[in-house]
Amino acid sequence: SVLRFELNTGAKMPAVGLGTWKADPGAVGEVVIAAVKIHWPIRTKPGSGGFGADVMAPLCLPETWNAMEGLYASGQARAIGVSNFSTKKLQELLKHAKVTPAVNQVECHPIWQQPALHHFCNSTGIHLSAYSPLGSPGSWINGEVMKDETLLDVAGKLNKSPAQVALRWGIQSGHSVLPKSVNESRLKENLSVFDWCIPSHLFTDFSQIPQQRLLRGDFAINETSPYKSIQELWDGEI
Ligand code: A2P
Repeated sequence: SVLRFELNTGAKMPAVGLGTWKADPGAVGEVVIAAVKIHWPIRTKPGSGGFGADVMAPLCLPETWNAMEGLYASGQARAIGVSNFSTKKLQELLKHAKVTPAVNQVECHPIWQQPALHHFCNSTGIHLSAYSPLGSPGSWINGEVMKDETLLDVAGKLNKSPAQVALRWGIQSGHSVLPKSVNESRLKENLSVFDWCIPSHLFTDFSQIPQQRLLRGDFAINETSPYKSIQELWDGEI
């Protein structure tokens, strides 16, 4: 079974990540919010300390990516990647990039599968890493991925938990998954996804699931921002 995905730099990435597992339960919410904020293809006006629609500035991807390429070239980073990039933003980036991003970390789970982005990443050698693979229940995102009927049906047939099936769906799709848990038994459950698989006749059922982006980025939208609508922020991938 797949335990690690090889990136286009040759570096290997674990198929299941555990970003905040050591964090104090009380601190996790804040950490997740902070992490999601370091994760956007947006730029704020110089000198602005905040993070909202009022301080949004137009992107300057070539300069930013060039600085990251410098880190890769000097060996300070084994791989460089992006987050929350749409297909269009990746296409723009690839026009001038000397180094193709190794990873695009995006929201991805059975109710936001992003097939077009998935195919674009596959065809360009960019690894897609899935955040909120369980829909982030209990957070302000509070998605209902683990309550999806198709997922529950497949979980029942395979005698696995809904979380395990959601994670296994991601891994079988070629994505690494980043489930958050502060509970040891759930951590173990989330790592027990390598000695079984979703058979193809059940895997195809996932294509029927109604789709919905959970993390929409409303914070970046207003009439003075470069993003006047959610559609603009995501380049129509919504
Ligand atoms: P907890 O930390 O108490 O385990 P996501 O990774 O999509 O952001 O979702 C994280 C949320 O899902 C957390 O609330 C976490 O709670 C919960 N969670 C993580 N693993 C499981 C699991 N195996 N079964 C049910 N809930 C889980």
